[in-house]
Amino acid sequence: MFITFEGLDFCGKSTQVKLLENYLKEKKHNVIVIREPGGTTISEQIRNVLLDKLNDKMQNETELLLFAASRAQLVREIILPALEKKYYVISDRYHDSSIAYQGFGRNMQIEFVIQLQKFVINNAIPDITFFIDIPVDEVLKRMSKVKNIDLDRIETSPNGIDSEKINFYERVRKGYLYLCEKEKRIKKINGLLTIEEIHNIIINHIENFN
Ligand code: TYD
Repeated sequence: MFITFEGLDFCGKSTQVKLLENYLKEKKHNVIVIREPGGTTISEQIRNVLLDKLNDKMQNETELLLFAASRAQLVREIILPALEKKYYVISDRYHDSSIAYQGFGRNMQIEFVIQLQKFVINNAIPDITFFIDIPVDEVLKRMSKVKNIDLDRIETSPNGIDSEKINFYERVRKGYLYLCEKEKRIKKINGLLTIEEIHNIIINHIENFN
């Protein structure tokens, strides 16, 4: 089974990934957890280029293609072989992130971004995707508690100006909501619930999946 997690920065998805991993491992399933961008030697190198704050000249087109390149490698090197061996594959972000962040967030041509994802992931389509939804003011609230040094390039761009940041995240969230309408595999979960409540909703979906 292939499970992906999506949401705005600071929505809490990484915590949920860990909890689900532990849950499945306790049930003696074979589980592989990956994070995007990254997950292979090549993809981790691309991740460093993508998230390095020194790369402030990166163009939107470059960004889109680097995410795509990183993902293409991950799909073929890790995801497809693991699914073939009947592993549970959990990915912290996947192609929906590119549609929401690059397509909607960076105002790129949505249809092209979607087509590019099809080319990149081919038949490695998630069985189920959890979109942990938090409002944009919650993102900013949680972000303000983190030291600037711990933020990556995407989180600090558009840099500084709060209204630009708000608009960017509003567009990304709109992208996710658009995908929720379009794709039955995506389950939207209220990210303001407690960690335990969210975990239980996720378990419920996994157990009832067929
Ligand atoms: P991530 O490592 O998930 O950061 P966090 O754990 O803080 O949520 O993702 C890094 C950043 O990359 C995040 O701001 C979202 C962005 N991103 C894209 O813009 N497009 C993509 O396709 C992916 C996978 C991530």
